[in-house]
Amino acid sequence: MDTFFFCYVYYVFFLSIFFFQSSSSWALNNNNIDVVTTELLESARQPEFFKWMKTIRRKIHEYPELAFQEHNTSQLIRSELDSLGIGYLWPVAKTGVVGSIGSGQYPWFSLRADMDALPMQELIEWEHKSKNVGKMHACGHDAHVTMLLGAAKLLQQRKLKLKGTVKLVFQPAEEGNAGAYHMLKEGALDNIPAIFGLHVWPSLPTGTIASRPGPMLAASGRFAVTIHGKGGHAARPDRNIDPILAASFTIIALQQIVSRETNPTDSRVVTVGYVHAGHAENVIPETVTFGGTFRSMTTEGQSYLKQRIKEIIEAQATVHRCTAVVDFMEEKLIPYPATVNDEAMYEHAKKVGESLLGESNVLVSPMTMGAEDFSFYSQTMATGFFSIGIKNETLKSDRMLHSQYFYLDEEVLPIGAALHAAVAITYLDNHIL
Ligand SMILES: *[C@@H]1O[C@H](CO)[C@@H](O)[C@H](O)[C@H]1NC(C)=O
Ligand SMILES: *[C@@H]1O[C@H](CO)[C@@H](O)[C@H](O)[C@H]1NC(C)=O
Ligand SMILES: [Zn+2]
Ligand SMILES: [Zn+2]
Repeated sequence: MDTFFFCYVYYVFFLSIFFFQSSSSWALNNNNIDVVTTELLESARQPEFFKWMKTIRRKIHEYPELAFQEHNTSQLIRSELDSLGIGYLWPVAKTGVVGSIGSGQYPWFSLRADMDALPMQELIEWEHKSKNVGKMHACGHDAHVTMLLGAAKLLQQRKLKLKGTVKLVFQPAEEGNAGAYHMLKEGALDNIPAIFGLHVWPSLPTGTIASRPGPMLAASGRFAVTIHGKGGHAARPDRNIDPILAASFTIIALQQIVSRETNPTDSRVVTVGYVHAGHAENVIPETVTFGGTFRSMTTEGQSYLKQRIKEIIEAQATVHRCTAVVDFMEEKLIPYPATVNDEAMYEHAKKVGESLLGESNVLVSPMTMGAEDFSFYSQTMATGFFSIGIKNETLKSDRMLHSQYFYLDEEVLPIGAALHAAVAITYLDNHIL
């Protein structure tokens, strides 16, 4: 009885301490997040702050630069970091910049923006249209750089309160040239355990964000093929070997990798994007060239596709008495792995997003077969990659990425800046706890 009573008192005592502590620290945490996000968004929406961001974004938009040629963009970033008093590493992977805010102490956390534009002509007439003919920020990377500079300013203003160090990763060459791979290869992100990135998304309304835990974007590889036959007069096919027929059978055979060899619930793509052959109606050409892309949500899926693409093309060429050379161009164009969000990073950024924008404005996105070189970070650290909405029908900012009519709702700039900064601050806060 005595013992029981004693135990009971102890039990209640410990229980109440446990309950009190856990509930209060949990509540404190959530309140903290709300305080942090509200304050950051208010700061970023101050007219002067917003105007500063718009000026930066418009300048980058007017002078778009292609992969590994982002010299002016990189210069602009460095001069803004200089004025903010933020130190940085440069050059990394030619034009890349890695800024550092805080004491340099661990924990570290990183935020990423890509800097490159696309080789295409902007078709919308507006005050800040691209001045570089045939180049355009049609993927919103001008906004990505600006939002990260916005975050840099917000963080620098609060650097004494940071419980660690934030690395600002401005990388080159996202569009097909694996800039992220080169940033990692040069060791610029060594010892960084986690990274967060944003991509503007024209089908999501401004004021919303979306992502998903686990696989989000596909792994992507390319292939280029030459099929050799024997050219000659079209009236004597028997004396020649027709590479056009061989290529036609081959391209059809490639479709069966997905339709007949892939689990129907898995997502895979094999697309032939170009075919070049012949010049005249009455000539059988010597060769045919064609090429395409293959995609999967997993590394295993990707290596399976690669192996079967080679086997099928070579065997089909043989069936038609031709020979084939399949080139995956991996030295020139490093294939992208899948972008896979770390569950804890995803949950963390989701929680911060809900606090910033309201629960109903944080959506779960479907997997898509697009690819992103953010995926290289997925392979070495915990990654959180989120889409951020820019759709406003009045502004016609719902045009697709990579469209010549792509248009940004600049209201996204303060939201993205605040989200970046809030994810970093609260990551460091929670890491300490
Ligand atoms: C880079 O900046 C210089 C000087 O402002 C300008 O003349 C040049 O056109 C810019 N280059 C690109 C590719 O935007
Ligand atoms: C869309 O943009 C217009 C023009 O800037 C603005 O008046 C309107 O409030 C925006 N709509 C939404 C839903 O934000
Ligand atoms: Zn793009
Ligand atoms: Zn992009």
